[in-house]
Amino acid sequence: MTVEPYETIDTDVLVVGAGGAGMRAAVAAADAGCRVVVITKSLLGKAHTVMAEGGIAAGMGNVDAQDSWEVHFADTMLGGQLLNNWRMVQIYAREVIDRVYELERWGGRFDRTKDGRIMQRAFGAHSWKRLAHVGDRTGLELIRTMQDRMLHTDRVDVYMEYTLTALLKDGDRVAGAIGYNRNDGKFVVFRSGGTVLGSGGWGRMYRYTSNSWESTGDGAAMAYAAGADLQDMEFVQFHPTGMVWPPGARGILVTEAVRGEGGLLYNSEGVRFMLEYDPVKKELSSRDVVARSIYKEVRAGRGTPHGGAYLDVRHLGAERIKQKLPSMYEQFHALASVDITRDPMEVGPTIHYTMGGVRVAPDTGATTVPGLYAAGEVAAGLHGANRLGGNSLGDILVFGRRAGEAAASEARARARGAIDESQVAAEQESLLRPLQSSGDGTASPENPYKLHEELQAAMQDDAGIARTAESLQRSLAAILGLRKRAAHMHVAGGRVLNPGWHTCRDVTNMLTLSEAIVRTAIERRESRGSQWRLDHLEQDAGFGTVNFIARRDGDAMRIVAEPVEPMPDELVALLQRSRFYDEAKLPKGHLTRAVKPEVTA
Ligand code: FUM
Repeated sequence: MTVEPYETIDTDVLVVGAGGAGMRAAVAAADAGCRVVVITKSLLGKAHTVMAEGGIAAGMGNVDAQDSWEVHFADTMLGGQLLNNWRMVQIYAREVIDRVYELERWGGRFDRTKDGRIMQRAFGAHSWKRLAHVGDRTGLELIRTMQDRMLHTDRVDVYMEYTLTALLKDGDRVAGAIGYNRNDGKFVVFRSGGTVLGSGGWGRMYRYTSNSWESTGDGAAMAYAAGADLQDMEFVQFHPTGMVWPPGARGILVTEAVRGEGGLLYNSEGVRFMLEYDPVKKELSSRDVVARSIYKEVRAGRGTPHGGAYLDVRHLGAERIKQKLPSMYEQFHALASVDITRDPMEVGPTIHYTMGGVRVAPDTGATTVPGLYAAGEVAAGLHGANRLGGNSLGDILVFGRRAGEAAASEARARARGAIDESQVAAEQESLLRPLQSSGDGTASPENPYKLHEELQAAMQDDAGIARTAESLQRSLAAILGLRKRAAHMHVAGGRVLNPGWHTCRDVTNMLTLSEAIVRTAIERRESRGSQWRLDHLEQDAGFGTVNFIARRDGDAMRIVAEPVEPMPDELVALLQRSRFYDEAKLPKGHLTRAVKPEVTA
């Protein structure tokens, strides 16, 4: 195999992704004295972080004084149906408060209470008003603030419009990554002492999603190929409220802040159906419950003309709507010609977030592959079976920082690994294949866009919000068929400015992650959180104590069940004090195991 020319760039810490997690990791690693390279597939400021609009969940108690990290801990664990890693949740609920104040010090312009404190709003399944926010543009403000901080931090270099395609290993340890410049197609190898994935999620394998084009799961797929465990992949979040019309806007997020500010959901008969599905939390029930409720109403023939539910804020008054929900006002006006101060919105579930991801150690973000760390949406563990809104913006700040610090201390503690030319050559060969002929001539050339479209159909229709063994098997068969055909992808042109070529690797990555989603969804024969199995409607006590892991075994994917780490008694007590605690709804045996791990923080 010959090696094509490539540039080598050396750094202490390589950060993959420039959303909130990547940027927070970069700042932490640079503050620890390391040289940092940040890679982004897109331009700075465009990450999916901006799609968490409603706020950062933090138990500061500025509006509801009863709130605290302890209540936030309980809400997050119960929302995740106890499949969360309790230690991650504990770290998160404690530290996110400091991260919000830090963001404020760094220039974040939060909405304010009358007495000048950071304003907090209600959100689904949070016990108290908890989301620190900036109107309905909190993710954007977080990105703006972090970007400003990062660009004013010494020792950080950003490479925009680069795609990384494979992690390079020296023995069992990650020594860097290879990729290319998306504009000229030239290969680049980054050699690093520590590597942090902050590369976000993978909603693009579904037809209707709030995710933008970048969310193809490159980081998780690279980690899996390098031997990392993927965890909880079956749990894919349908945000209850995406736009359903017009067709070009379908899937675009309608922030939960709309319901947080008092928005109400109605069916086509004018019935406020959430009063029936969850009489306690109503429109502010957890996302899995609200999404399913809308789906059921539509299936029962009580949907809106374009197949959704009505979301109504008119009773709030035009002034408040424009003040607290300016983006929603503009979005509906521009995209659907709807004035939300006068008419209700039409909304329905849209793929928004992936609870599963790369398995990490709770304190450091270390993956199961030495030298590799992960934080934010690409990592699993914090959210369990269902994420509460507002917990993603906090997640990226808390664990981005921790992963950046851990990667920095690793980079400082040991010599950088060597780059193995044979791995570089093999990856280049694999990347260049679609630009050459369509293989051995035994199959017709495959168009990557067509394969992507077929994958979206297989995932949306058969591995979507409602699943059965039969639909999942159908989806798996389609994915495996597409994988075979993907070996024959072919695109015209060369490496310069060739989006078709970029799509080939996106499709390969999405096929890997789709297979993991479907295989774990098949194994989890119960309904829990975002996993709704029409053939197993109840929760199962056995499945309530395991996480499913997808592990690479040669070319095959193996699924194994790993026991959930038991929770210490003092944390169980926090759950029992929660207003949302309902013993009858918890998986039996889950909270009563005798093991008592030590709590160190
Ligand atoms: O609805 C939203 O604003 C989304 C927030 C989140 O995903 O955390």
